[in-house]
Amino acid sequence: MWKEKKENKKIVMKQKKLFLVCVFMLAISTTCYASEGNPENGKKLFSDPKLSGSQNDTACIKCHPGKDPFKSISKDRPINKIINMCITKPLAGNALENDSQEMKDLRSYILSQSK
Ligand code: HEC
Repeated sequence: MWKEKKENKKIVMKQKKLFLVCVFMLAISTTCYASEGNPENGKKLFSDPKLSGSQNDTACIKCHPGKDPFKSISKDRPINKIINMCITKPLAGNALENDSQEMKDLRSYILSQSK
C-alpha cells in the first residue's frame, strides 16, 4: 500500500518533469521563430491592406497574386530594399526597419518560396 503510493508519486513527478521539458522546448522554439521571422505571419501581412500604415486600399497580394508569387526570386537580391520600395510606393506606407518583426516575417515568407 505505502509502496504503491510512492510509485504513484514517482510517476506523477516524471509526468511533471516531462511537462516542464515540453514547455521549455516550446518556449525556445517560439523565441527562435520570432527572431528568424515567421513565414505564416508574413503571408498574412502580405494580404493586409493596412500594412505599415498603408494609406490606400492596396495590399502586396494585389500585384503579386497566386500561390507562390516569388518562386523564382534569387536569395541574392536586396529583398528588404525591394519590400520597402513596394511598401512606400504602391502601398503608400512607411518603410520598415530591417530588424522589425514585420520585415523579418515578410522576408521569410518570400524566401520560403524560392527553391
Ligand atoms: C502596385 C503593384 C505592387 C504592389 C502593391 C506591390 N508590389 Fe512588389 N513589385 C511590383 C513590381 C512592378 C515589381 C517589379 C517587377 C517584378 O519583379 O515583379 C515588384 C517586385 C517585388 C519583389 C521582387 C520580385 C523579384 O522577383 O525580384 C518583391 C519581393 C516584392 N515586390 C514584394 C512586395 C511586397 C512585400 C509588397 C507589399 C508590401 C509588394 N511587393 C507590393 C509591384 C507591386
